[in-house]
Amino acid sequence: MKIVVVGSINMDYSLRVQQLPRKGETVSASSYIVTAGGKGANQAVAARRLGAEVALIGALGADEAGRELKARLNQEGIDLSGVAVTNGYTGIAQITVEDSGENSIVIAPGANSELESVWIERNESLLREADFVLVQLEIPMDSVGTAVRVAHRLGRKVILNPAPAKPIPEELYPCIDILTPNETELQKLTGYSDVQEGAKALLAKGVKRVIVTLGERGCFCMDAEHALSVPSVPIIAIDATGAGDAFNGALAVALSEKMALEEALGFANQVGAWVASRAGAQIAMPYRREIDGEAIS
Ligand code: RIB
Repeated sequence: MKIVVVGSINMDYSLRVQQLPRKGETVSASSYIVTAGGKGANQAVAARRLGAEVALIGALGADEAGRELKARLNQEGIDLSGVAVTNGYTGIAQITVEDSGENSIVIAPGANSELESVWIERNESLLREADFVLVQLEIPMDSVGTAVRVAHRLGRKVILNPAPAKPIPEELYPCIDILTPNETELQKLTGYSDVQEGAKALLAKGVKRVIVTLGERGCFCMDAEHALSVPSVPIIAIDATGAGDAFNGALAVALSEKMALEEALGFANQVGAWVASRAGAQIAMPYRREIDGEAIS
């Protein structure tokens, strides 16, 4: 089972506050952590810790943060032969997390914005070996398009997590096997806040399956044969950072293990909930034994 992730790598600077500040307001943080993040790297770590063989295609700067992030990803056992080192700085995320667990994120993309299509084409051999290719939108759209098109041409299954939300070129939709927006992203992509209507609109564009993540309410999945809601597990929300990434990594693992659809969605919900009940992104990703143990008890 091999999963190839094409996406961003960031150093996350997370400040915990009682409430997210309003415009013009200054608030004090109760704690501050610096941890490994980036939607691409988070999804890669999630899939790896759940037992998949994982390769990451991405970009880092030739700086201290880049070296540290590379060493950590290497320790996870992720194939980093597709990670370029650019002249730019390593991507940074400034994350504010309030006590309810909700967050707001500002990205300085740095090297992630230098991940070019030509680099993805050069790593076609990695994509060729994948059961699933996972892509998000924190790298240039041109490169997203190349990753999706090449993977589709090679007959690989493509999961596109449209985060952060931005318009997707119409011709890409038919190359996407699974699109995984949250409700905000669904609304931005389709104009619909109704989950079923939004999912139908995306299927009409040529996506084969739409899975809308609903946070603590679980997820909704629609394709030509199914329309099903799968609830999540109850948790005490600590930090939503990386929960969506955990969901996507877990979904790819479950489907590549050929779990039945409903079981795969439940598994992905459980892994997302696990991460939302802990601080940080990559440091919160569970190992398979922890998830399997939780399911048994
Ligand atoms: O999805 C969470 C991630 O978004 C964070 O780790 C941050 O780096 C941003 O990419």
